[in-house]
Amino acid sequence: MKNVVAIDGPGGAGKSTIARLLAEKLNYLHLDTGAMYRAVTLAALNKEIDFDNKTKLVELAKEIKIEFDLTGKVFLDGEDVSQEIRSEKVNEFVSKTAAVKGVREVLVKKQQQIAAVNKVVMDGRDITTVVLPDAEYKFFLTASLTERAKRRYEQLKKQNKEANLDEIKASIARRDKFDSEREHSPLTIADDAVVIDTTKLDIPNVISEILKIMSGDK
Ligand code: DC
Repeated sequence: MKNVVAIDGPGGAGKSTIARLLAEKLNYLHLDTGAMYRAVTLAALNKEIDFDNKTKLVELAKEIKIEFDLTGKVFLDGEDVSQEIRSEKVNEFVSKTAAVKGVREVLVKKQQQIAAVNKVVMDGRDITTVVLPDAEYKFFLTASLTERAKRRYEQLKKQNKEANLDEIKASIARRDKFDSEREHSPLTIADDAVVIDTTKLDIPNVISEILKIMSGDK
């Protein structure tokens, strides 16, 4: 699939930031699929839907309208929810939403439709394996748990928010485990994906590494 870049990896590996900057450089659309699972989760919280009620979650995923603008803002039924979808409450429940097969089917279809008509950099957990297995370029970005927790901690501190490094580390580890061990589309490394460990690389270095690979220099 030409003009399609698929990026997977665990939470906090820098996927979304890198995907956004890469899309800017290439003049491609950026689709953060995690934000879509987060938007469904936020909608479920707003409607007080029980996260064990899979049928209701699937109905909701079909009903709601999730949109992105070119700056990366996320809209749920027309309302800007870019901040709200990153709340601790959404963090707590999003893995449950993402584990529901029917929810995944609805969102994967939307993602595939977007890739069919756009040049796109798409990031998530199952993009290289399930959503766009035929993508022209496939990357798996990772970083050590400690480094990922540190990045999240620094991000929260910058926003003047309460942060506890040990708690963040435990929460990321819990989500990693859940996302990797779930029954439907668990986080796995595609055989033909290029793995990049970002633990010791800053963002510009990761981008230039990816661009080198894409241009065939590596
Ligand atoms: O990347 P993130 O933290 O915003 O992802 C939020 C959740 O959604 C996380 O639990 C993994 C899940 N997810 C998924 O299952 N498949 C995707 N393509 C993207 C995210």
